[in-house]
Amino acid sequence: MKKKLHTPEKIVLVCLGSKCKEKGNKDLVQDLKKIIKENHLKNTCEIIKVNCLGKCKHAPIISVQPDNIWFSDITQKEIKHQIENSILLPSTEGLL
Ligand code: FES
Repeated sequence: MKKKLHTPEKIVLVCLGSKCKEKGNKDLVQDLKKIIKENHLKNTCEIIKVNCLGKCKHAPIISVQPDNIWFSDITQKEIKHQIENSILLPSTEGLL
């Protein structure tokens, strides 16, 4: 019997390409894990580390899906605060 594929409600794509890593995304992964754990979101929100999202000029890049929220060119402190808000809010997909 096949195991059911778990699909999270939200995905945080964290770019760990050289430019984004250099600008602090590597450290942010630990902060994101902490936010997810503290808010009991382990079953609903998943962090996926990617190699490059093709927007290096605007590094560091982080994206929250399916909400199509993109963070770029902002400080580590701003990113943390804004990502925390975006993953704690219910997804707007399907709402019109
Ligand atoms: S290294 Fe992050 S977008 Fe390219």
